[in-house]
Amino acid sequence: MILAIETSCDDTCAAVVSDRGSVMSNIISSQLGHEDYGGVVPELAARQHMELIATVVDLALARAGVRPAELEAIAVTSGPGLAGALLVGVGYGKGLAEALSIPLRAVDHIDGHVAASMLAPEPPDGPFLALIASGGHTMLCRVDGAGPGWTQLGSTLDDAAGEAFDKGARLLGLGYPGGPAIDRLASDGDPGAFEFPTASGVDGLDFSFSGVKTSLLYTVRELGEEASKSRSADLAASFQRAIVSQLLDRIERGLERTGFERLAIGGGVAANSLLRSEVGSLGIPVAVPAMEFCTDNAAMIGRAALALPDLSADRMRQLDVTPTVHRGGQHN
Ligand code: KG4
Ligand code: ZN
Repeated sequence: MILAIETSCDDTCAAVVSDRGSVMSNIISSQLGHEDYGGVVPELAARQHMELIATVVDLALARAGVRPAELEAIAVTSGPGLAGALLVGVGYGKGLAEALSIPLRAVDHIDGHVAASMLAPEPPDGPFLALIASGGHTMLCRVDGAGPGWTQLGSTLDDAAGEAFDKGARLLGLGYPGGPAIDRLASDGDPGAFEFPTASGVDGLDFSFSGVKTSLLYTVRELGEEASKSRSADLAASFQRAIVSQLLDRIERGLERTGFERLAIGGGVAANSLLRSEVGSLGIPVAVPAMEFCTDNAAMIGRAALALPDLSADRMRQLDVTPTVHRGGQHN
């Protein structure tokens, strides 16, 4: 049994995963208060992790019916993410591992999103292409073996896909996080009502979402406040359509480039209903994890840790976190 802890952003998460990869419990405590600021406030996130971590870990153990003494290892996200937020999980994980005299494993957050494909109802069998799209990352990668290893084939040149959803939602006066809000509103709208760019001119397997965001900004300005409000469902549906079209286009390019016939999607944006239904029409097996394994969670961290070695006592003592480096501005 592995206890996994994930605190890289604004969700305090703990899970118990068996050495065969079955998820015994998966507790996600989504923090409150960030929506008042329109995005994640790093200091607020770290403080709330401090308040919540012990309860969330206790709950994960109780739900799994596992006593601390039965744990064989602890897995913790060591980056990338918000430094202060990560430190809470790493500190707690280290302390618990020391107290229980069991090893610690450090997991990369993106490895976790890739490993979530193994928690899908139909996990990929053999090499596969993976689209990982979240609030902080958007990338296409190839996964050749059963381990956590992957090779990046393309990534975003500017905003992440989830960030584009969040910024678009703010322009439409919806709350944070924006992805679920746009997804809900879009179901009442016409995806063909507005034409937003899909970055088809960006070569290769890279993504760009700054154009679609700017285009939404100009459209909202041109329409004016009242018309934007009355047509918000059409705007949301068209905006979502443009983002998902770009994701699908790069997936198709990636499948062609690699010759792979299997796909996995992961990260918060993989919770998007349009993306989930569209990948079903590609005519190949697609690993689509349950929603709770797409957005940040600790089960995926525990699953990724199965393929990782225990840290030596020295490495455990020295374990530091890897903060996210943003290209420009603040994420969200
Ligand atoms: O993986 P995640 O929980 O955290 C990061 O690692 O960033 O992803 C969060 C992102 C947010 O930007 C959120 O708006 C987006 O995933 N998201 C969605 C949906 N649910 C969450 N985007 C589109 N449609 C959704 N249903
Ligand atoms: Zn994530």
